[in-house]
Amino acid sequence: MTVNISNPIFEKLGMKYPIVEGGMTWAGSGALAAAVSEAGGLGIIGTGYWHGDEVRREVRRAKELTDKPFGVNVMLMSRHIREVFDVILEEGVKVVATGAGDPSPFLDELHAAGIVVMPVVPSSSMARMMERKGVDAVVAEGMESGGHIGHMTTMALIPQVVDAVDIPVIAAGGIADGRGAAAAFMLGASGIQMGTRFLTAAESEIHPNFKKKVLKAKDIDTIVTGNVLGNRARVLKNKMSKNFVKNEVNELQKPKPNYEQMEKLESGTLKAAVVEGDKDGGAFMAGQISGLVNDEKPVAEILDDIWSQATDLMGIPNTTK
Ligand SMILES: Cc1cc2nc3c(=O)[nH]c(=O)nc-3n(C[C@H](O)[C@H](O)[C@H](O)COP(=O)(O)O)c2cc1C
Repeated sequence: MTVNISNPIFEKLGMKYPIVEGGMTWAGSGALAAAVSEAGGLGIIGTGYWHGDEVRREVRRAKELTDKPFGVNVMLMSRHIREVFDVILEEGVKVVATGAGDPSPFLDELHAAGIVVMPVVPSSSMARMMERKGVDAVVAEGMESGGHIGHMTTMALIPQVVDAVDIPVIAAGGIADGRGAAAAFMLGASGIQMGTRFLTAAESEIHPNFKKKVLKAKDIDTIVTGNVLGNRARVLKNKMSKNFVKNEVNELQKPKPNYEQMEKLESGTLKAAVVEGDKDGGAFMAGQISGLVNDEKPVAEILDDIWSQATDLMGIPNTTK
């Protein structure tokens, strides 16, 4: 028996590799997404709490750099969500990925425009619910990932989600080379999504301090913020994240943060890491696999290396050659 890697969505999008760049707020620029799509994967622009005009700027940058389809990741809890969807529809974006939350209120209009919708899910029950509501695929993301996380590990989550749904399952969390990719396909996924690996791509526009931190990180250098306050996120250890975790219990005594405070905390500290390279104050979101990410190379090489190694390990032909 050989592993089945066919994924009708990737075929429809004309992708060469079954590899997705996960949306990364601030870090997943239009240029990086275009580089991934141009090289044969699926690039996704991260938009977080952005206004529509900021999303449009990055979508247009991507369109200038590639004719291939790319996606936009939307944060459903953002206050600007309506204008972001308007931009996506006006600009003819082909794929919408959603972070935490339920995209179903927007499904009809996105599908009417021919847009592929793939939410990130942290559990098999959420995957089943999303399938019932009519999404096209799910990204099952383990807690090894950089950024916001659930509680399941990728190894335990993927086969259970694969058994729970009939739509394609894309595996995310802790994958940065062909071994991880092959493992995900063996577990039944028909695609992989990576975030951390692309942070140090040559085309990644994050601050050099951020790149250096990922390149230097070891396996145990991440920490999870939000275990007490909620909105758990995996970030690299630094002064900000260690203090955050230390003080979380005390913060519970204070009134719950309002939307503006939360946006500042969630997106502001990430911007400080990505744009300003603020070593002490930034939230350097990155996954446990950072320890395996030791070089800065072009996206095309990353995709080619991973797929060559994965197909070799799986004993299937590498049809991209
Ligand atoms: C810097 C950073 C920012 C991220 N921002 C988002 C986001 O805005 N929306 C989202 O759905 N996922 C986000 N993620 C998760 C990625 O899309 C991806 O699923 C994850 O990084 C995969 O795990 P890995 O880091 O082990 O490769 C982010 C990850 C990183 C590293």
